[in-house]
Amino acid sequence: MYKVNLSDDIYFLGINDRRTSLFENLWPLPYGVTYNSYLIVDEKVCLIDTVDRKFTDDYFEKLDDILGERVVDYVVVNHVEPDHSGSLSAIREKYPNITIVGNKKTFPMIENFYGITEDILTVADGDELDLGKHKLNFYTIPMVHWPESMVTFESTENILFSNDAFGSFGALDGGVFDDEVNLSFYEEEAMRYFTNIVGKYCPHTARALVKLESLDIKMIAPSHGLIWRSHIAYIVEKYQQWSSYTTEKGVVILVGSMYGNTEKMADAIGRQMAVRGIKNIRTYDPSKTHVSNIISDVFKYKGLIAGSCAYNNEMFPTLENVLKEIQHKGIKDHLLGVFGSYSWNGGGVKNLEKFAEQIKWEIINPSVEEKGALKKDKYEEAKALANSMADKLNELFD
Ligand code: FEO
Repeated sequence: MYKVNLSDDIYFLGINDRRTSLFENLWPLPYGVTYNSYLIVDEKVCLIDTVDRKFTDDYFEKLDDILGERVVDYVVVNHVEPDHSGSLSAIREKYPNITIVGNKKTFPMIENFYGITEDILTVADGDELDLGKHKLNFYTIPMVHWPESMVTFESTENILFSNDAFGSFGALDGGVFDDEVNLSFYEEEAMRYFTNIVGKYCPHTARALVKLESLDIKMIAPSHGLIWRSHIAYIVEKYQQWSSYTTEKGVVILVGSMYGNTEKMADAIGRQMAVRGIKNIRTYDPSKTHVSNIISDVFKYKGLIAGSCAYNNEMFPTLENVLKEIQHKGIKDHLLGVFGSYSWNGGGVKNLEKFAEQIKWEIINPSVEEKGALKKDKYEEAKALANSMADKLNELFD
């Protein structure tokens, strides 16, 4: 089969997974995902990470195709999450003399997951592993995405093996390097990966970017998705933007509606914001659109307007679920407006206002609450809410 080289003796051993529906059994994979491992063939042979155990056989085929009878001396575990360490036990069976390389937080996890306690090499920040021509240095990046996460920098070719950082959802449908594909697709999937998986740890990601900025990186080889070699500044800038909650001009309208009255309010608000010059407006019904896509756009756009009908004296359950996820991710520095409708006792707007108090974003007034179908007075209030949001965004971004 074909081989993909990062350089003369560094190989890509990524596996496309188009069969798994949900990453972490949670996040949709409409375009698949990859598990990327890398192989360095030198005086010593070294693997960087492995793949999900569902694909161990395919992975070993690729490995054997390159190595033949040669054995692997080291496997670096940048991250113990099983999408990357899942083939570790099988690798130890295949290469009984292999040494596992990790940091002091790696090995207790490996013991817990796989019962492995022997043939390990513990490295600390900046330590070097000499493979011959190629030298590897290790840098911990805690919480990007787990406490033991680290990156490996290969200092002959200047390749950063970055694990989850700079990764994306989406299988690789031919193009493996960033200059072999149309980037717009992978930018969206990289953002969805970042916001869904790593997004809770934005301050940690920002610290990791500062820690790595002195490295002269010529290629970034993550453990999911594209390898970056021609657009390194581009993806690093995106990470700086996302991890610092830097937003674009635009609004997500989230609407939980049973019979369409609250949704009509959402449309009235969206229309008025468009009239006032807001071009990026995304209205989502959380009963239909997965929280994965919604979270990504909430990270992207400065404004959020949430609308709910009343449901058993509470806000609409699927909307509540998305708002909980927004709180859980700790998303900061947004503008928030709320609206809703009810039939008898309310509960939607009241609970949205509680959410507003808890999340401590800047509130855009007025809240608008209608009884039943949208009527003229409340339509004017809905327009006023839309105008306030648009004014604020125009002031901030123009
Ligand atoms: Fe791709 Fe945090 O594992």
